[in-house]
Amino acid sequence: MLSVTDLDVFHGDAQALSGVSIEVEEGAIVAIVGANGAGKSSLIRTIAGMHRPAQGRILFRRQDIAGWPSHRVCNLGIGQVAEGRQVFPTLTVVENLDMGAMLPRARASREKNRERVLALFPKLAERASQAAGTLSGGEQQMLAIGRCLMGAPELVMFDEPSLGLAPAVVQDVLKTIRDLNREGLTCILVEQNVAVSLKLASRAYVLENGRITLSGSGEALLADDRVRQAYLGL
Ligand SMILES: Nc1ncnc2c1ncn2[C@@H]1O[C@H](COP(=O)(O)OP(=O)(O)O)[C@@H](O)[C@H]1O
Ligand SMILES: [Mg+2]
Repeated sequence: MLSVTDLDVFHGDAQALSGVSIEVEEGAIVAIVGANGAGKSSLIRTIAGMHRPAQGRILFRRQDIAGWPSHRVCNLGIGQVAEGRQVFPTLTVVENLDMGAMLPRARASREKNRERVLALFPKLAERASQAAGTLSGGEQQMLAIGRCLMGAPELVMFDEPSLGLAPAVVQDVLKTIRDLNREGLTCILVEQNVAVSLKLASRAYVLENGRITLSGSGEALLADDRVRQAYLGL
């Protein structure tokens, strides 16, 4: 579905990604793990069209989208749940959701998608006309996911969805991602929470200082001594 080849990305003079290649098969959950500053968000944001790569190809369904503006990338069906949730605090839950349905691909199905999202997240349905800023952190993360789903994506990139949430809520968010995947959504999951994301992932990549240093099935990386020492403290 998505094939990134030999991607180089710079922020000014500083190189954030060097020769990064990843493959995402339709229906998969692919985890990208790595320490703070490794380049995970740079990768997601480049795929999403928010950074222009200096080099490399980003093929989505065989079309090279490298350098496309983000609105065109979104309209192909590539959604993003950005780091830090970023809901509009003074808008209501429903208004936030409807912001996600502005894409041409999703406009006509807005009502149907909103019903589906509110059925998926009953807490959001209960708080439909409440300002988003009054929601708990976990509810705001659900709202950010719901808003992304309003764009009718086929591939969603989740950037650190568990960051800053209580452990029980982290489990809810990850279960939501697993359920969405079972319904057919292809997912890229970026996490510092390495153990949890490798358990969920069919395929995973370790990113260190802008380079992919290891890849394999989630299971294989969980058992890998280098991963266990560097990321799991075992
Ligand atoms: N907009 C930016 N301008 C300059 N440097 C940036 C910018 N975004 C990220 N960086 C730098 O790029 C590197 C990778 O950052 P990032 O992709 O955010 O990593 P991660 O998401 O893995 O924590 C870091 O050294 C970070 O400081
Ligand atoms: Mg990041």
